Amino acid sequence: MRSYDAWIHHSEAGVLLPILNPMGLIAGARGVLLFNRSLLKSPLAVGALVPSSPQLSRLIASQVGGGSAHVLEIGAGTGSITDALLRRGLPASRLLLIERDPALVTHLRKRFPHLRVRCGDAAHAEAILREEGIPRVQTLISSLPICNMSGDDRISIVRRMMKVLAANGQLVQFTYAANCPFPTALLGLRAERLGRVWMNIPPAVVWRFTRRSQVG
Ligand SMILES: C[S@@+](CC[C@H](N)C(=O)[O-])C[C@H]1O[C@@H](n2cnc3c(N)ncnc32)[C@H](O)[C@@H]1O
Repeated sequence: MRSYDAWIHHSEAGVLLPILNPMGLIAGARGVLLFNRSLLKSPLAVGALVPSSPQLSRLIASQVGGGSAHVLEIGAGTGSITDALLRRGLPASRLLLIERDPALVTHLRKRFPHLRVRCGDAAHAEAILREEGIPRVQTLISSLPICNMSGDDRISIVRRMMKVLAANGQLVQFTYAANCPFPTALLGLRAERLGRVWMNIPPAVVWRFTRRSQVG
């Protein structure tokens, strides 16, 4: 074990794991260590203390319906939500992951060797999907730390994410703040608060966004 890994191992992750794992809040020690390393490198870009809990991951995964349409997960991190999606029966062929941190991408590729995992920025989602031969997705799941972004950056990123959604598609986003994270009237979006998950660190609120122009 390199000295940096050893330091992480004996510091916050080493303290957090025994406390949180019996509560079922986090899974995968290796993933948590990588997550901590990524957090120390870019705290604002990671935006969470530990990976998404199984409870949060399951609520998000439950929003994805059947059929053949594609699902895009942005900011997949350690793969907690990915795992919940696959456990619910989403075929690997329908799922594409985008993650910016190369170490987490390597982890995701090892954990899910049958999935397409792209190392890239959410801002380039449209180009990445084009390269993958996917015109539009039905569901976009975003773990992006939206609350750490300025108002202008939020608007810019949500506009880019909406560009890759099918006309009747949905954007599912969780945040740690109580308020809706996007100016929905300005963006022409309808917001639905799906619920708060207390068993997450910190507790999270899950939102679904659809276009106001959407029928039904
Ligand atoms: C809250 S964490 C991920 C939580 C994830 N559900 C998990 O359980 O590990 C946010 C993730 O978004 C990634 N991220 C942040 N900004 C990004 C961007 N612009 N494009 C792609 N990924 C980004 C971070 O590297 C981090 O892995």
